[in-house]
Amino acid sequence: MATHLIHLSDTHFGPEREFTVRGAPVLDRARRVVEEINALPFQPAAVIHTGDIANDPFDEAYRIAEEVFSDLNAPIYYTTGNHDDVPMMREHLTFHNGMNPLVPESENRHAYTIEIDGIALFILDGKVPPEEGPHGNLSETQISALTDFVENESGPFAVFNHFPALPIGSKWIDNNLPLKNGREFHEILKSAGADRFYGSFFGHLHRGLQIYHDNILYSAVSSPACQFTAGPNDEYCDFLPDVPICFNHITFANGITQVKEYTFPS
Ligand SMILES: [Fe+2]
Repeated sequence: MATHLIHLSDTHFGPEREFTVRGAPVLDRARRVVEEINALPFQPAAVIHTGDIANDPFDEAYRIAEEVFSDLNAPIYYTTGNHDDVPMMREHLTFHNGMNPLVPESENRHAYTIEIDGIALFILDGKVPPEEGPHGNLSETQISALTDFVENESGPFAVFNHFPALPIGSKWIDNNLPLKNGREFHEILKSAGADRFYGSFFGHLHRGLQIYHDNILYSAVSSPACQFTAGPNDEYCDFLPDVPICFNHITFANGITQVKEYTFPS
C-alpha cells in the first residue's frame, strides 16, 4: 500500500491580495499550488504545510490563506514557522479531526500528531520568540513526547517541522536558521532506527534540500513564494529571481520513502 502526502511550506501570504515577495504575487502562486494538487491523479491523504503561512502576523494574511487552502480536496495540516502567529492560526485556519495535541494549550505551540495508514506523523512547532531570531528550538514537552513514542511504541513515524535540524553547508543559513537542539532531535530519530522512521521534513530554507545522516532522511521543500541562494559562503540571505512554483509529493510504500518535487512556471 502506498501513502501519498503533499509537503508544502513558506507561502508567505501578506495582508493584501496583491502582496508580493521579491516581486512574486504570493496569492496567485498559492492558488496555482492548490489547483495542481487537486489535479493530481491520486488522492493525497494529507497536505502538510510546514510553516511561514504568513509573511507577517496579520489577521488578513491568515484569512486569505484559509480562503485559498479551503479549496483543497485533501485535508491540510499546519505547523508554525518563524513568521507565524499561533493565536491567529487558531482563529483563522480550519483544523481537521484526529489531531492529538502534544503540548498543553498554555505552551502556545501548534504541535500534534495525526495518524495516516498506521503511520504517526509528528507535526512539531519549533518557533522561538521573534526577538531571539529566525532559528528554531523544540520545546522540552515536544522532545519528551517524541522520545516517549520512540521508546514505548513500535509503529512507523515521520516528523514535520519548519526548521532544519542539521547544518547544510551554507554560512548564513547555518548561523541563523537551524534548530538549536537539532542534534538532540537527531539522536532521538537515530535511536528509533531506519526500519520505523520514514523521514524528517521541513521548510524554512526556501529551497529543496536532502540530507542523509545515520540512516535518517531530512528533506526540505522549497517555497512557492521565493527561494534563497544558499551558497556555501553566503554571508547574508540572498534571493533567486523568477523561481518556479513548487511543492513536494511524498510517498511511503513498502519501506521506500520517495520525495518528488513538482514545479510549475510562474
Ligand atoms: Fe519562510
